[in-house]
This record gives sequence, C-alpha cells and structure tokens, in this order.
Amino acid sequence: MKFITVESYAELSRLAGEIIASQVKEKPCSVLGLATGSSPLGTYEHLANAYKAGELDFSNVTSVNLDEYVGLDGDNDQSYRYFMNKNLFSKINIPMDKTFVPNGCASDLKAECARYDALIEALGGIDLQLLGIGLDGHIGFNEPEEFFTKETHEVTLDPSTIEANARFFASKDDVPTSAVTMGIGAIMNAKKVLLIANGKGKKDIMQKAFYGPITPFVPASILQLHPDLTVIYAEN
Ligand code: F6R
Repeated sequence: MKFITVESYAELSRLAGEIIASQVKEKPCSVLGLATGSSPLGTYEHLANAYKAGELDFSNVTSVNLDEYVGLDGDNDQSYRYFMNKNLFSKINIPMDKTFVPNGCASDLKAECARYDALIEALGGIDLQLLGIGLDGHIGFNEPEEFFTKETHEVTLDPSTIEANARFFASKDDVPTSAVTMGIGAIMNAKKVLLIANGKGKKDIMQKAFYGPITPFVPASILQLHPDLTVIYAEN
C-alpha cells in the first residue's frame, strides 16, 4: 500500500487526477471504476481541465460507477447518474454509451445486479478503481456487516450514511434508504485501486481502515490486501 498524506484538498485532487490521467494516457481503452460524493469533485475537475487543455482523450475509455440509489432515475438531480453526467461526463469526450451506472430503478434489482457483474466481467474487469470512504468505513455502499459481499447487491443504507448524505438532499427524510452497489469482488479484482479521503472527520476511520484489523465491520479494511493500492489523505 502506498499511503500519501497531503496538505490540502487541492493537492489531493491534483495528485488523484494525475494518477487517473496517467492511466488513460498509458492505456487509452482503460476501464475506469468511478465514485460519486464530495471527495472526487476536485479530481473530476482536474480531469475536465486536462481534457479542455487537449492533454487527455477519453474517446476510448469505458467507465463503471460504484453505486446508485434505489428509486432515483438518471433525471433526478440527486441520482448518481445525474452527478456523473454533470460533474464529469458532460465535460470530457467519453462516449455516453460507454458510461455505466447501476440502474436503481430496475423493476428486478436482483437481475440488475447480476447484469452489472456480467458487464464488468465482459469488459475484462476494472483497470483503475477510484474510491471514497464513508465515515463508517464503507466503500461503494458496502456497509459494515458480518461478512464481505462479493457481488453487486442491494443494500440498506446505514443510519450514519443517511445522516452524512442528508447534506445533499432537502431533508434527511428525502435520502433513499437503499442502494445498489458494486460488491467487494469487483473492487478487489480491479488492477489498481485509488482511495481518496479529505478532512479531519475521516481521520479515525482512515486509521481503522488502513492500520487496524481486516474486518467486514470496516469494509475498506479489505483493501489492505490489494496488491496495488494507493491512498491519498488530506487531513487539513
Ligand atoms: C460514492 C460512494 C461512497 C462515497 C463515500 C464518501 O459513489 O461510493 O462510498 O465515496 O460515502 O463520500 P464523500 O466523498 O461525500 O465523503
């Protein structure tokens, strides 16, 4: 594991952006695993700027996102599909039909989960997976529980996750209570994993996840076993 501590969110975003940019330059047909939330916003801005400056070409890239709320379609401005379109896809030249986000509105969510895993497999797996980390140690929406779940699955969101994500919604009651998330299997199978975390509030969970015991009660702790993991933390 490479654990990098930086001084600021700007530095974190620049570094994470450069790592993803190098991946795309080295392998233009990369499969990028992407995340939503506050942490990657600066990274996506860095990538959008690099594209604008003519330094990056995403025309052969495919993306697979980690998760989506159940019940929110892509037109809902709180959905993760909407977030990705707004904050990254509309600002770069990735073909929209090569951007994938789980469908949280599928009538058969079990079938949707199986479809998503089959899609990732058909793409040959993920070259580089970008992750944030929840205050309870979740990655994607793999919440703390007694076991790690390998496959894409539907999860009931932890009360602390609902609380943390309420800041994006009009009220806490508007936060969906469940989501579809990529499982630990596809994340651990990614050739490279890049986890970014920002702020003092994440200090305890970073300590537990990367220097504590490996346990499904801290889902991110499994990443300690990943052969090519980079963690960037801006404590500020
Ligand atoms: C988002 C995701 C989540 C977030 C995590 C941290 O797609 O999978 O695991 O990465 O909740 O969120 P922020 O970055 O908002 O602190």
